[in-house]
Amino acid sequence: MQWWRDAVVYQIYVRSFSDADGDGIGDLDGIRSRLGYLELLGVDVLRLTPFYTSPMADHGYDVADPRDVDPVFGDLVTFDALVADAHKHGLRVTIDLVPNHTSSEHEWFRAALASTPGSPERARFHFRPGRGAGGMKPPNNWTSAFGGPAWTRVRDSTDGPGEWYLHLFTREQPDLNWTNPEVWADMEKTLRFWLDRGVDGFRIDVADGMSKPEDLPDMVAHDGPDPRFDHDGVHDVHRMIRAVVDHYPDAMVMGELGVRDGERFALYLRNDELHLGCRAVLADAPFAAERIREIVQQSLAAVSSVDATPTWAYSGHDLSRPVTRYGGGAGGVARARALALVMCALPGAVCLYNGDELGLPDVDLPDELLQDPLWSRCGRTERGRDAYRVPLPWEGGPPGYGFTSGAPWLPMPAEYGLASVAEQLEDTESTLSLFRRAIELRRAHGGVTDTTLEWFGAPEGCLAFRRSGSTLVCALNTSDVPVPLPPGDILLASGPLLDGDLLPPDTAAWLA
Ligand code: NOJ
Repeated sequence: MQWWRDAVVYQIYVRSFSDADGDGIGDLDGIRSRLGYLELLGVDVLRLTPFYTSPMADHGYDVADPRDVDPVFGDLVTFDALVADAHKHGLRVTIDLVPNHTSSEHEWFRAALASTPGSPERARFHFRPGRGAGGMKPPNNWTSAFGGPAWTRVRDSTDGPGEWYLHLFTREQPDLNWTNPEVWADMEKTLRFWLDRGVDGFRIDVADGMSKPEDLPDMVAHDGPDPRFDHDGVHDVHRMIRAVVDHYPDAMVMGELGVRDGERFALYLRNDELHLGCRAVLADAPFAAERIREIVQQSLAAVSSVDATPTWAYSGHDLSRPVTRYGGGAGGVARARALALVMCALPGAVCLYNGDELGLPDVDLPDELLQDPLWSRCGRTERGRDAYRVPLPWEGGPPGYGFTSGAPWLPMPAEYGLASVAEQLEDTESTLSLFRRAIELRRAHGGVTDTTLEWFGAPEGCLAFRRSGSTLVCALNTSDVPVPLPPGDILLASGPLLDGDLLPPDTAAWLA
C-alpha cells in the first residue's frame, strides 16, 4: 500500500515538543503523552528528529551511537512503547537517519584519532594531508555549512600537526567515507535495527550528501556546480537503503534534498531509490501567486518525469517560521494560514513542522541564550535556528506553558502562551482549528491518484486550481484588493470572507 503518497507528515522536533521528566528538554515519553493530540490533529505519520546518543553539538544531528537513545530523550524501552502507542492511535512513526556524518564522539572517530594515517580506522572518514608548506593549508577549499573551512587538522602520534579530516557541517560532525564497505554494512545494520523495532520508515538527512568525488576537487565560483553535494555515486547508497527497506512491507524512505535542478532532483525518486524527496520549495516563495504557481508547476514537472509523488513543505527546524517569513503580526498569520490551505490542497505528501499548526512566530532570543552552533561558528554573524525551535506551548502559564514542569531549554514568550494548544482547541477560528478541518477535508476529498493540476484563470496576484479528478478547488489572493471567488460551495477559508463572495487579500479558500 502506497500510504505515503498522500500522507500528512508531522515533524516533531523532539527537544521542543513535550517534556515528561521536567528537565526542560522534550523527550520520547513527552511525545507519548501527546499522541491523542496528534490523532485529533489528523496527521498520518510522525517524523522524529534524531534522538540517538549524542553530545548535541548540532542538537542530535551529531550521532555518537545510531542504535541507541540519548538518556536526555529516554531509552529503547520508551522508544518501543512510543511506537506501539502511536500505532494504537493510528499514527505511523518515521525517524531521522544521519548517514552523511557521525559525531566526533562516535567510537569509530575516536579510534580514527588514535590511529595513524593510512590506517583502516581513518579510512572510515575522509582524512587527508594538508596542502602547502608543512601541510598548513586544508586539503581543498570546501567550506562547512556552518561557516569556516570544512576541514579540521588533528594532532599526529607525536602530538605534532597531523592530517586533516572533512566535515561539511560542524567539526564535531566528521563526514563518513561512503566508499568504505564498513560504512555500508553499518548503515544496513542501523536500518534493520529500527525497522525490526517497528518504525514505518526514515527521513534521510542530507540525502544528497554521502558520496564525494574521488579527488575532492576545489569548489569553483559561488554559482558553479558544488562538488560537496549531489555527486552521482549517492544513488548507489539510496539503492542500498531502499533494498533493505523493501524487506519491510509499507516502510517508506523520505530524503532531505537540497538539489535545485528538477532533473537532478528527480533522479533520487526513481523507483528503486527514495519514495519521497523533500525540499521546502514553498518556503522559497515570496507571498506572490505567480511565483507560488511557478514553483508548484516546476515541482510537479520534476517528479512526474519519474512517476513519483511530490512532497510539499513550507517550514522545518532549519527555516524561519512561515508567520515571521510573511511579515509577522496579523498579516503574517493571515498569509501563513492562506499558504497552508494551498499546500494542503496540492497532490502528494505534505510535511508540517510542529508549531506551525498553532501559527507560532519565530522568537527573538537574547544573544546569550542562543545555542545553535551556527551562531558561534559564524563568528556571531548569523543568529542560527533557535528562534524557530522554541518549545511548544500546550496550556497554562510561564515558564513552561505545559511543555515542561521545569524551565524550558529556550525561554517561551507570553505570546506563545496565548497561542497554546488548549486555547486554540476552544476556538473554532484558531489556526489549529483551520489545520484540523483542512486535514479532515483533504482526507475526505482524497483517494485521487492523479498528481496533475488544472489551473483556472485568476485575477492578477491570484491563483486557483483543482487537482485533476478532484472536486476541491483552491483559490488564493496575494494581491491588495478583494477578488470574486470562483463558483462553488465554500468548504473552508483561511480568514473571513467579504460580502458578495469576495476573497480578501492574504486569504485562501476551498470550494466544492
Ligand atoms: C539537516 C538538518 O535538518 C540540520 O538541522 C542539520 O544541522 C544538518 N542537516 C546536518 O546534519
